[in-house]
Amino acid sequence: MNPRKNPYTPGAGSQPPELAGREDVIEKACIALDRTIAGKQARGIVLYGLRGVGKTVLLRKLVAEAEERNFITIYLEAPEDRSLPAALCPQLRAGLYKLKRGEEVKKHLLGAFRALKSFSEALKIKYGDIELSLDFDREEGIADSGNLESDLGDLLSAVAEGAREKDCGVLIAIDELQYINSKELEALIAAMHRVGQKNLPILLFAAGLPQLLGHMGQAKSYVERLLEFTPIGKLDQTAAESALIKPALEAEASYTPEALALIFQKTEGYPYYLQEWGKHSWNLAESSPITADDACRATEAALAELDASFFRVRFDRLKPSEKKYLRAMAELGPGPHRSGDVAEQYGKSITTVAPIRSSLIAKGMVYSISHGETAFTVPLFEAYMKRVFPSFSTE
Ligand SMILES: Nc1ncnc2c1ncn2[C@@H]1O[C@H](COP(=O)(O)OP(=O)(O)O)[C@@H](O)[C@H]1O
Ligand SMILES: [Mg+2]
Repeated sequence: MNPRKNPYTPGAGSQPPELAGREDVIEKACIALDRTIAGKQARGIVLYGLRGVGKTVLLRKLVAEAEERNFITIYLEAPEDRSLPAALCPQLRAGLYKLKRGEEVKKHLLGAFRALKSFSEALKIKYGDIELSLDFDREEGIADSGNLESDLGDLLSAVAEGAREKDCGVLIAIDELQYINSKELEALIAAMHRVGQKNLPILLFAAGLPQLLGHMGQAKSYVERLLEFTPIGKLDQTAAESALIKPALEAEASYTPEALALIFQKTEGYPYYLQEWGKHSWNLAESSPITADDACRATEAALAELDASFFRVRFDRLKPSEKKYLRAMAELGPGPHRSGDVAEQYGKSITTVAPIRSSLIAKGMVYSISHGETAFTVPLFEAYMKRVFPSFSTE
């Protein structure tokens, strides 16, 4: 069918035509936003799950909901190579200017600008990567101790008070949260906790890979009271089908039940793959309805495209020993797998391969489910490894 009208959107962070199966999370987040702006207690939300399940697009949807509710939103993707304060400062600056709206700065907003100035100057030496120019004087004694936790607490309080003065709330939204080192994460959480106790209108929504749960465990004990951890996974059959059917319907096209069943079976309901199969089924079908035969031909095209993009970008960043470790895991099946089993498959001792495993965790390729258990962060990655290296030998 006409590729110009193809509605599907495979791609990291590409907003899908139909955000299927996430109504409950959205509702929960909206309740938290409404409570926050009304000055009531609410828990922030951390979306966690594998790559390609739709965490980024969901987080963006929550940001849009917040903006509709008069929140200023501080959105950032946690940088792999910069400090959290360095990433936060320019976003906070932009947020404060949004609050200012060209008007004269009133008492609390002025306090917020000055706290930001103090914060950036006090932490400049510790974090060499902070760059911020701001035409305000620093506020003596606020956010200027040089201690990240207490300065961040001062700063976020000041920003939230500035927002409240304008009847607004503040949403901090952080994607790829697993890249924030645990010290900075602890400081952020402790700071949010302090601000939350004052009932100021500020909330944290975040998203990241499952390994962030481990980072959180080491953060302060009140994390669970402050944040609700929400797993984001594959879609059930009804939601997966509506992710395919609804966009087609808008363009007056449809699927046969057999085509839908086949796509669900091949994709296992993973959102990224649904978009990929939808796209190719559409392009390969002569006319509506899309049949099982179209979906079958789409499988080949979709896998080829995933192999060249989604899977490939991750694979290309790896060393030979890391690729071999992943291939050994794949040999054992979808997983998760015990480290001892992988080491045995790899053909070396656990201690010899432990650094390879750690480096794969740091690169976000695998994560540790529990002590000594390892799983892929990308769904269906084991099948990809087998396509790239059809046979596995330990040399
Ligand atoms: N609920 C959903 N329904 C349909 N498609 C979705 C849904 N969530 C995500 N997608 C699609 O899946 C792909 C991956 O989404 P993304 O948010 O980048 O995943 P993640 O951040 O978890 O890696 C995108 O192509 C997006 O359009
Ligand atoms: Mg993402």
